[in-house]
Amino acid sequence: MTATVLSRSALDGAPPARGMDDADAAAVAQGTPIIRLRGVTKVYGQGQAAFQALKGVDLDIDSGDFVAVMGPSGSGKSTVMNLLGCLDTPTSGEYRFRGLHVERLSRDQRARLRRQYLGFVFQGFNLLARTSAQENVELPLLYRGQRTAERHRAAREALASVGLAGWEHHTPAELSGGQQQRVAIARALVTSPAVLLADEPTGNLDTQRSREIMDLLCTLNRERGITVLMVTHESDMAAYAKRVVHFVDGRVDSDWRQNSAPRIDAGRGDT
Ligand SMILES: Nc1ncnc2c1ncn2[C@@H]1O[C@H](COP(=O)(O)OP(=O)(O)OP(=O)(O)O)[C@@H](O)[C@H]1O
Ligand SMILES: [Mg+2]
Repeated sequence: MTATVLSRSALDGAPPARGMDDADAAAVAQGTPIIRLRGVTKVYGQGQAAFQALKGVDLDIDSGDFVAVMGPSGSGKSTVMNLLGCLDTPTSGEYRFRGLHVERLSRDQRARLRRQYLGFVFQGFNLLARTSAQENVELPLLYRGQRTAERHRAAREALASVGLAGWEHHTPAELSGGQQQRVAIARALVTSPAVLLADEPTGNLDTQRSREIMDLLCTLNRERGITVLMVTHESDMAAYAKRVVHFVDGRVDSDWRQNSAPRIDAGRGDT
């Protein structure tokens, strides 16, 4: 599936002053992937302490894809997810989102790109502890400045879509690990992102709960057309994805498509 090209003005508060620039127009003509990385590097620290976590990553992700990112600990998986999620910037190289050069955006434009198009589920759940499921899910909408009634409605809907209707007023401590992860996914979904980035979404869960989360990601990918990138250490979980990208030592080591369709109902209930 080809992504619609995004113009920089779409990320400014003001109405678009001009249409696509030439580079954007060329990207449309060529069939733009929703995400394109070229020669992306990331160096943490400076001088003697400098560490190169990414050593030149090239990666294209088409709209509607479901990608499992695998590889040993320290190979750069979270680093690349953070760059894709606009939570961090590359040291060098090119990141295009729908043809738009992300590295040329201002900090505000990047923040807007993140809020409007990207949902992020972190390694670990990262929920506010004393805050209800409902309020946790509303948070991204609060940042967007959405009105209270609209926030309540959207959060309830997002919680229902991950199977948590009726649990709105529970705090994370009153929810199981699987339920907490569902809240984290609802929070990522509440803004209707084009891309869902999930860093080890099943990392803290037992097999049954992990399968339920994978079924949920498959459903979101299939029924809502959300592009999903998910980091996992487990081949059982990667088996749900359409494509597996393997990182080794800060580089893409292998990249293949899986033959079978995602295992939508694997491991449900009656086993
Ligand atoms: N903020 C940071 N400052 C310095 N070094 C960092 C930072 N974040 C990550 N690194 C280093 O960069 C490398 C890649 O880290 P990254 O978190 O991307 O690995 P990963 O593949 O996600 O590993 P894991 O499977 O353990 O989560 C590691 O060697 C890590 O120590
Ligand atoms: Mg990681």
